[in-house]
Amino acid sequence: MPLKLEHQELHANLVKATKAGGRVGDAAKAVARVLHVHFVKEEQVTLPPLGLLSTLARHQVARGIKKVLPMTDRLKAELPKMLEEHESVVTALKVDM
Ligand SMILES: [Fe+2]
Repeated sequence: MPLKLEHQELHANLVKATKAGGRVGDAAKAVARVLHVHFVKEEQVTLPPLGLLSTLARHQVARGIKKVLPMTDRLKAELPKMLEEHESVVTALKVDM
């Protein structure tokens, strides 16, 4: 799944940045703290339902559709918090150099 690969690539780059030391390393650690929790949540409740959209777009009911209903309920409940997490990530990315 492309989004999961993107997460893995971002994670790998962030790990490298945390090892840079100094202000870059500190900033990368701050970003990693807020981003990791968010990525885990996205992979638990967001990506599985998104993976069924192409089937739904063809007017077919995807196998496993019932399994994602608790995920979409949780996503609906947690969406405001997840959007706040986006703001936290952006804030953590703003570092005076
Ligand atoms: Fe997100």
